[in-house]
Amino acid sequence: MAFKKALFALGFTLPSVFGLVPPQKRATCSDGVNSAKNAVCCNLFQAREDLLDNLFENECGDAAHGALRLIFHDAIGIDPTVGGGGADGSIATFNATELTFPANAGIDDVLDVMGPFLLKWSHVLSAGDFIQFAGALSLSLCPGAPQVQFAMGRPSPAAASPPDLVPNPFDTVDAILARFGSVGFSPEEVIALLSSHSIAGADDVDPSIPGTPFDISPSTFDTQIFIDVQLRGTIFSGTGGNQGEVESSVQGTLRLQSDHSLARDTRTACIWQSFANNQQKMASEFGAAVFKLSLLGQNAAALTDCSDLIPAAPAFTGTASFPPALTHSDVEQACASAAFPNLPTQPGPPLVVPPIPQADDS
Ligand code: HEM
Repeated sequence: MAFKKALFALGFTLPSVFGLVPPQKRATCSDGVNSAKNAVCCNLFQAREDLLDNLFENECGDAAHGALRLIFHDAIGIDPTVGGGGADGSIATFNATELTFPANAGIDDVLDVMGPFLLKWSHVLSAGDFIQFAGALSLSLCPGAPQVQFAMGRPSPAAASPPDLVPNPFDTVDAILARFGSVGFSPEEVIALLSSHSIAGADDVDPSIPGTPFDISPSTFDTQIFIDVQLRGTIFSGTGGNQGEVESSVQGTLRLQSDHSLARDTRTACIWQSFANNQQKMASEFGAAVFKLSLLGQNAAALTDCSDLIPAAPAFTGTASFPPALTHSDVEQACASAAFPNLPTQPGPPLVVPPIPQADDS
């Protein structure tokens, strides 16, 4: 964990790239190969290849999932009353404080994997920029994900986030909507952001089953999370009875209480349902909301647009469906104004979804 201490020193050494006038034409980078809309973005090509090849190993796997979770846990650390710097990299620089927050359980593993890369590229990316860049790049590896925008130029974080700003999976819908609402996110944007749980799983909710996915296709940014979570829960894949967990519908998956409740609350059930089998809506609303998240606490006008560094993800080519042996009759209809879509059932016997291989397994 030596790098976690080294991260602290970063706060005072990173270059600022503020105040750049947007150029009129693409800049040719000094490598003679690449070009970018803004010349300062040329500095990121090597970092991009390193992260894609060596951090994520070109897979929508555990490291990519962790990078996406990290952008949220860094950015949401801001509140109009108690303060905090938002998407400023404080979760890395001030990890000694922020990793003590219960809602950041498991972020230590993410920082263990990402920290060496953060240090390696600290001459071109501040901690806040690194986290948002890595998160945007991680999505490019997940089929179906949008090409999210990325802007750079965040100054170094001034302090750790105050505690209790990251939502817990056992929080009420009231508390979750209020937390997001306090930093300008509508219920529609909250549910759009939870599309992220389509490429996600839990290590610490039930520690007896690390890497347990939230839906049946954790390497694909598809709408399956909105389908699987709406099905009647009948199974605990592990021990059960863990705080923040409720029964899921497919063996080998884990359902967060927060996702379950948001899918059934009168304020959010129809929004949740509207994403099921609507890949285009999910990708576009998630893309907009996640970029908005990346700007929390930042002066957007002072950042430089480097979105052209973010590759497009492979297209989603599958079909939204009910998991094997489950049908529309297993849906817990919660939206009062429209019926849940009737989807085909995948063929075969009931699934047992394998755990997501962990980034530190190799
Ligand atoms: C109500 C808000 C949210 C709650 C309560 C919540 C809760 C959780 C929990 C408990 C985990 C499992 C942690 C573990 O045990 O390893 C998790 C994983 C994850 N979350 Fe969320 N989350 C929320 C919103 C978000 C948002 C907005 C994003 C991204 C934009 C996000 C991205 C992820 C990802 C990618 C993972 C998987 C990480 C991995 O597999 O390593 N979450 N979330």
